[in-house]
Amino acid sequence: LQQITIRRPCDPHVHFRFGLMLALVAPLHRLFHWSLAMPNVPEIRDADGALDYRLQVERAIGTDGDRAPIIVPTIKLTHATTPRMIARFAGDHYVKAAKLYPCKKGAAAGVTTGSHNGIHDVTLLTDVFKAMQSAGVILCIHAEDPDTADPWLREEAYLPQVEWITSHFPGLRVVIEHISTAVMARFVEDAHANVAATITPHHLRWTRADLYDGGARPHRWCCPVLKTVEDRAAVRRAAWYCERVFFGSDSAPHAIEAKEKDGGAAGIFAPAEITMAAEAGRFLGGEAGLTFGPDLAVYRAHFEQFVSLRAPAFYGLAPAEDTIVLERTDWRVPSSYGGHDGLPTVVPFLAGETLWWRVVPDAAG
Ligand code: DOR
Ligand code: ZN
Repeated sequence: LQQITIRRPCDPHVHFRFGLMLALVAPLHRLFHWSLAMPNVPEIRDADGALDYRLQVERAIGTDGDRAPIIVPTIKLTHATTPRMIARFAGDHYVKAAKLYPCKKGAAAGVTTGSHNGIHDVTLLTDVFKAMQSAGVILCIHAEDPDTADPWLREEAYLPQVEWITSHFPGLRVVIEHISTAVMARFVEDAHANVAATITPHHLRWTRADLYDGGARPHRWCCPVLKTVEDRAAVRRAAWYCERVFFGSDSAPHAIEAKEKDGGAAGIFAPAEITMAAEAGRFLGGEAGLTFGPDLAVYRAHFEQFVSLRAPAFYGLAPAEDTIVLERTDWRVPSSYGGHDGLPTVVPFLAGETLWWRVVPDAAG
């Protein structure tokens, strides 16, 4: 069997949730060297909350022999966040980032799940951004304009806010999360060295046509929404070439009942074994039906950069010293996870599809 070995990957964008959902999904992220836990559900606003949440997720994720996956917590910025809160938060060496969710002033709901109490005016955060810049806390941005009615236009409509931040605080490290448009990909490619971005496996794979594919597909609905073929081509190019652009799963599980209904939730559940198999297929060419010539080494290197090396470099966290192995063999993605022992049932990314690569299970722990 054709096999490749890469440094153990990292996931700089994942929603672990809490309670039974956390119990179900955390072990499915054990493969990663470290994971950056998003602060929207449950809402984490300060250092105490972040440290407590880190312990909860670490307990739930468990260990893989001697290896303990690292959980890097984040806090959600609100208009009540103070420079003092940032200073306390930055005191813990595990802590790395704070997340900005845009939200209309006074609105009960923001641009996405758990983004109420978010930021309606970035200029009001000047002192917080200064504190983050001097403490080395990274700013993660959900870049979508809540005042733009058309969800397909929200990302580019938020660009002026992003530009205001990156031009006024050039020393602040910024990650624009889950970029999905050609406009934002171009912005990141042309930006200064302190601006980076994550891209999800679903924005790399699908376009808006996939939202209605033999019927409505609620398990493909997410924020930001899937975009056009041209947008996908632009994010694919950035994922391949730009050293400040890296994988972030944005795994965002919701129980099947919350997705398959009118007014269903946005978010795609993306366990590690699925995203790594999907990205291996994309980078290594298996699914494009290519043959494996001398170029395989080049493809492997780009894949490893994207999932294992660029995020640690930007975050200032060490990359993994150990490796995982993927092999070229057909692998069928489970149609759901959970549904037993009181655990919720959750339908994953690429449910029921056959992928060309799989993570060799021993390496997955
Ligand atoms: O689709 C999404 N779901 N996008 C987000 O930004 C949040 C997430 C969630 O927490 O469910
Ligand atoms: Zn997210």
